[in-house]
Amino acid sequence: MPLRMTMTNATTRHLLGLRDVPRERLLGLLESAAMLLPVVEGAEAAAAPLEGRLIANLFLENSTRTRVSFTVAARRLGAQTVDLLGGTSSASKGESLVDTARNVAAMGVDAIVLRCNASGGSHLIARHVSCPVINAGDGTCEHPTQGLLDMLALTRSIGTTDLSGRTIGITGDVVHSRVARSAAYAATCLGGDVVFIGPPAMVPASLEGLLDGLEGEGRGDVRVCHDLDAALPHLDAAMMLRVQFERGAAITGDYPAMYGLTAARAAMLPEHAVVMHPGPINRGLELDDETADGPRSLIMDQVTCGVAVRMAVLLEQLGA
Ligand code: CP
Repeated sequence: MPLRMTMTNATTRHLLGLRDVPRERLLGLLESAAMLLPVVEGAEAAAAPLEGRLIANLFLENSTRTRVSFTVAARRLGAQTVDLLGGTSSASKGESLVDTARNVAAMGVDAIVLRCNASGGSHLIARHVSCPVINAGDGTCEHPTQGLLDMLALTRSIGTTDLSGRTIGITGDVVHSRVARSAAYAATCLGGDVVFIGPPAMVPASLEGLLDGLEGEGRGDVRVCHDLDAALPHLDAAMMLRVQFERGAAITGDYPAMYGLTAARAAMLPEHAVVMHPGPINRGLELDDETADGPRSLIMDQVTCGVAVRMAVLLEQLGA
């Protein structure tokens, strides 16, 4: 278990997104997280390299997995946590995001983990506080620890972090999805190709420009497809997305028939292909029960990997 990772330069201060994260940092975080998995799974005793450190979880938008996962990760490492939730904070009285973060930082916390519905919110507060900021999902922008945990679960199931020649299908409400963006940045950084699948309103052609400015040796491509049945036989992983009704997503009555991954439709995947979903699932809409809970599903692995990834990120950010 890596007890000491050091912040080497400004590029490792904060974790705000995966768009600009170099491949070496991505691989380092995945390697560190993989080494921490036995602790998460209870097979190895936990050390306490972050004993005496205090991490503030600012969750101004609802969460189950990410908030509990960051708390478990911090406590596994010996750190203490303090939670500020949207409904009980003075944000409900109109206090700004920056003022909220500056006040919490002024109490001497060692890091801020931020979930908010403002796209770019974590970038904003990182300019106003002196402690590390970790983006736990900001609006429709990015969800970097979700992207990392998706890659950890996927690469462990494949057996390599080199995704060259692999295709990851990301299906559903891509236009509203910070999960899709972070997963696409990470998967293509590892050499994989991503195909965004869904109706044109959720998967506009403009998404093919997502990687503009990022072209580099070995990076995979992204493309758009509106026909799930045509794409399925070519996928190594089928990542299904939640329809984000709270962000204004609207579906037509034929959405489940066109884009829901039923057991019958999952049979069109290659035998080795896996099924993923970030949660929370709208069962019967994005996935049926048999597919969500079946042998191809990595969904619970994703959750377990999430704790290890967040431990690795906390160690990186707190220089322990
Ligand atoms: N995947 C995810 O971010 O879930 P929560 O919204 O429950 O944290």
